[in-house]
Amino acid sequence: MSAKIEIGFAKSPRLSGDLAILLKASDAELPAGAAEADPSGVFGKAADIAKFTGKAMGKLDIVAPHGSPVDRIVVIGLGKAEAVIAHDWLKAGGTAASVLKSVDKVTIFIDAPGVEVSPKAAADFALGMLLRNYSFDTYKTRKKDDEENGPAKQVKVTIVTADASAAKKAFADAQAVAEGVILARDLVNEPANILGPLEFAAKAKELEKLGVEVEILTEKDMKKLGMGALLGVAQGSVRSPRLAVMQWKGGKAKDKPIAFVGKGVVFDTGGISIKPAGGMEDMKGDMGGAAAVTGLMHVLAAREAKVNVVGIIGLVENMPDGNAQRPGDIVTSMSGQTIEVINTDAEGRLVLADALWYCNDRFKPEFMINLATLTGAVLVALGTQHAGLFSNNDTLADNLLKAGLASNERLWRLPLGKDYDKLIDSKFADMKNSSGRHAGSITAAQFLKRFVGETPWAHLDIAGTAMSSPSDEINQSWGSGFGVRLLDELVRAHYEA
Ligand code: BES
Ligand code: MN
Ligand code: ZN
Repeated sequence: MSAKIEIGFAKSPRLSGDLAILLKASDAELPAGAAEADPSGVFGKAADIAKFTGKAMGKLDIVAPHGSPVDRIVVIGLGKAEAVIAHDWLKAGGTAASVLKSVDKVTIFIDAPGVEVSPKAAADFALGMLLRNYSFDTYKTRKKDDEENGPAKQVKVTIVTADASAAKKAFADAQAVAEGVILARDLVNEPANILGPLEFAAKAKELEKLGVEVEILTEKDMKKLGMGALLGVAQGSVRSPRLAVMQWKGGKAKDKPIAFVGKGVVFDTGGISIKPAGGMEDMKGDMGGAAAVTGLMHVLAAREAKVNVVGIIGLVENMPDGNAQRPGDIVTSMSGQTIEVINTDAEGRLVLADALWYCNDRFKPEFMINLATLTGAVLVALGTQHAGLFSNNDTLADNLLKAGLASNERLWRLPLGKDYDKLIDSKFADMKNSSGRHAGSITAAQFLKRFVGETPWAHLDIAGTAMSSPSDEINQSWGSGFGVRLLDELVRAHYEA
């Protein structure tokens, strides 16, 4: 179990407890607080021995000298003062959280000389701590040896900065972001036997506590609406599908909403076009898009964002079964367009086709952004470092790319075009759901594009980034929660009154 972190801010604390953490730029002095923690100046000698200069996210961990009010001192490097960017504050916070084993009380001096520390930076540092501290251990009944020797169950953190009260205010928003990212990670990490469509819908319903309006459409509702594409995927599972519709009305009543749509395949076996066994367990994470949308709705409601937002998630399980759909089947989507199902493993686009159409038809949003663990091909193209971005609108795409850089949840735009579009024309229906190996991520995006009309739209293919990406300063979890910080940043920067 990771310890609970309780974070407070102070302007000038009385230094005590078991650990002091200091931040230092490589080309500047130690911050105020150093002299108090290290009265005999042991740090300089230790730094020489360890060749510690303060390079970005480097650490020097020393026993405090006699006369210090603390037991231990950790100095974290920020790199060159002028090169510190917004995301470095999250990373520094994450690095700080990584040294808290067996610590009850820690004081962290973040005002590194030469570096500008805004209230937002202080809040981001705290956010980095909360995100790094996350671990998913719901199902571990036995503790590891080192944990039995008693790490602190609760760590009291005091972040010391000149404008502590402004930092504290900024932290309220950061806390909302942490909760949203952690909600998304939990949903992705949860196994599919525990989290089916109904259970996921119940999680969405819990957002009502924050003032989100939540409707859950049942199979019957979706039949009435003619959602044949989504229902065709669901028909092989004994677990009935759901569509959750979440609305946060933080803007003016007359303002059009912005909309986010998520793929929520709680497990993707591939269906009759079954996947190979190796690694199939990862397909419990095939609802990463829906998790990000749910996490984002949590953030926006918790920080009372001044914007109208719709979140829609299609929740289904893709199973092989006597009643499962077959390759060659033709289904009719809510839009009226018919689809030949060439490959039952190309199911995400079928779910999104109806979810996107429904969203556009009912809400006439200013834009729609969908998130989906849609194709293995995007991993081939971009690895785990960038999610694929597809859009019919350059302004929306540019805003997303900028938000990607600011949040360090990075996107790379890939093309759409008529010549790709024709690859999904079908011999028997209006379109087919799969067209072979070439340009697999693009043809999937072309398919979605046929269900968004003229509305500005972007599709984020997060198959490489939502899960199983390498751990870093702020994430050690299999499910990363990718997309929540990105889209919160997008909304903040461009769409809030
Ligand atoms: N859920 C998968 C995509 C995926 C692959 C997500 C790896 C995460 C990691 C999706 O439903 C799928 O199976 N896509 C197929 C499409 C193909 C049949 C056209 C794929 O990528 O192979
Ligand atoms: Mn699939
Ligand atoms: Zn899938």
